Amino acid sequence: MEELENAEMQDKKVKFNFENIKSLIRNSFRINKIIWKQHKALFVIFGITIFALSFLPFLRSSVNGKVIDLLINFIKTNTLSTVFPLFLAFYLIIDLIYAISGTTSDYIGYLFYKFLEETFSLLVIKKKGELDIATHEGSNFNDFANKIDESGVWHLQNFSDRQFYILENLVRIIIASFVIIQIKWWLVFIILVGTLPEIYKEVKYGQRVWSIWDSKSEVRRKYLQYKSYFSTVTNLSEIKLFGSVKHFYDKISDLFNNFQGELKKGEKSKYIIGLFTDSFSQIAISLVSIYFIFEVIHGKLTIGNLTFLLASVNNLHGAFGNFFSFLGKQYQDSLFVTDLFKLLDQEPTVDYKKDGVVINDKTPKIEFKNITFKYPNTDKIVLKNFNLTINPGEKIAIVGINGAGKTTLVKLLCRFYDPTEGEVLVDGVNLKELEINNWYNQLSILSQEYIKYYLLAKEAIGVGDVKKLFNEKLIKEAAKSSEAHAFIDEWEHKYDQMLGKIYKEGKELSIGQWQKLALARIFYRSSPIMVLDEPTSSIDAETEKNVFERLTNLPDDRTVILISHRFSTVRYADKICVISDGELKEYGSHEELMEIKDGLYHNLFELQAEGYR
Ligand SMILES: Nc1ncnc2c1ncn2[C@@H]1O[C@H](COP(=O)(O)OP(=O)(O)OP(=O)(O)O)[C@@H](O)[C@H]1O
Ligand SMILES: [Mg+2]
Repeated sequence: MEELENAEMQDKKVKFNFENIKSLIRNSFRINKIIWKQHKALFVIFGITIFALSFLPFLRSSVNGKVIDLLINFIKTNTLSTVFPLFLAFYLIIDLIYAISGTTSDYIGYLFYKFLEETFSLLVIKKKGELDIATHEGSNFNDFANKIDESGVWHLQNFSDRQFYILENLVRIIIASFVIIQIKWWLVFIILVGTLPEIYKEVKYGQRVWSIWDSKSEVRRKYLQYKSYFSTVTNLSEIKLFGSVKHFYDKISDLFNNFQGELKKGEKSKYIIGLFTDSFSQIAISLVSIYFIFEVIHGKLTIGNLTFLLASVNNLHGAFGNFFSFLGKQYQDSLFVTDLFKLLDQEPTVDYKKDGVVINDKTPKIEFKNITFKYPNTDKIVLKNFNLTINPGEKIAIVGINGAGKTTLVKLLCRFYDPTEGEVLVDGVNLKELEINNWYNQLSILSQEYIKYYLLAKEAIGVGDVKKLFNEKLIKEAAKSSEAHAFIDEWEHKYDQMLGKIYKEGKELSIGQWQKLALARIFYRSSPIMVLDEPTSSIDAETEKNVFERLTNLPDDRTVILISHRFSTVRYADKICVISDGELKEYGSHEELMEIKDGLYHNLFELQAEGYR
């Protein structure tokens, strides 16, 4: 996915290019439009306060200058001007408005910050939920999306906040330049030239990295990875038993050393360059200040004017510095914002029909017709000219070695992917024509990698079909079918027991118990088509047989597809499909397949049976 490469930007040296400037402006418009739509009044007030914050300091120092001049006049002549109280009052009012503007803009800035966090975090989560599995499984996509989840919204918040401060500094530059130009235009020029090296330093070393957490993502990911080996008991047990504790400790230590070394080098150059740039800009300011002092000596400026002008010079210098360093940071954050919007604009790979065919609750016939399939961007043919018809109510088992293509078949049935060639038909209708959520209502699928829900036991089963509103009677029945009831019933809180050791009251389950709980979800969901992709690998053989029996004894119209490596269960299926190299090699009942001497099924069955004799 070429467009995702931008996500790696943060790892690379950020180079300026015009395209990124254009996206920066686009990003600004897009974010402001969202804020504007929700908070018009706040947006306007924020604008006014920001303008007040940039404008008032000038008014304040100008009035301040006037007050000083009036005081000097008073010392000289011993008469206080009648306008003195007026200016004093004015001075106090400006201070008051300035303080109010500051507090107000802080508050509104905070509101915007929180608004953006909520809005965009929810948008990202929504998008992740909406996008199809093919997109999620696509190269880099998950990594890209998680990286955005990790830091994209935070960068967007800063980006949004900072644009107002960029504006504030721009207004300050304009006003200060206007004031100083009144004396001599080239004074502004001197200050700008004096500030340039400082700006260069700020832009080059602007974003100080404080810890490994905000280091380059590659370094951070490695660090998190190694650290995770020390964080769970399972991981710790393994590395202790394998004697690799020191190995990974040293890796982390090396990571710190490399990282800190690079940082210190960067900070040292920044310090040395800073000594020069700061002195340079200070000299420029001093020159301008001296010019003004001479103007006072020559009687062309009053002391009041001088204080006003010196304040304006400092203002201009500060605003120049801020403006450019903010722009630099804005440019960097904009790259993240661009990525964030890229995620939000991501179109699904599989095109689901909005008003597709809706099928009724009668169990449909499923046909895999001449299916050939390769995963996107790969060359390996996973399924080759595959044909299989599953009649309503059939109990089918699929067997085959690891990587044979069994799970892939299930993914095609869920339309996570479309076949490269051929079609999947549901009651004669191409799967592509179906309304996808209606189709999912027909399916109960338990995959090899199911979720261990850290919820109450009844919720962990009830999420199998939230439409049933956590019906406790049905939950209990489902748990009985999957044999989870036996261990749940022994707990003090029974179905109200919290699961997961991350909670104080939470119970941790054995892997087999987790699987039984996952199976209970399937029984609870109880759709016309039930697919179990090796969900019973950690369940004892007896339970697996019982569960499968219960599945096969479900009402006749229910289709069951079981993928399992355990032939003692598989043998009870109506029909068994043997997949090898992506092809359907053998198909029939246990007895029929055992007839084929030297057949795949026959040999595998004998091999397993051998182990028990
Ligand atoms: N998302 C993917 N992208 C690319 N190739 C994949 C992907 N998932 C699986 N494959 C490849 O497709 C082939 C079939 O995988 P599949 O998961 O269907 O096997 P399986 O029969 O379910 O194996 P197992 O018994 O180990 O579960 C494998 O060679 C695998 O490497
Ligand atoms: Mg599999």
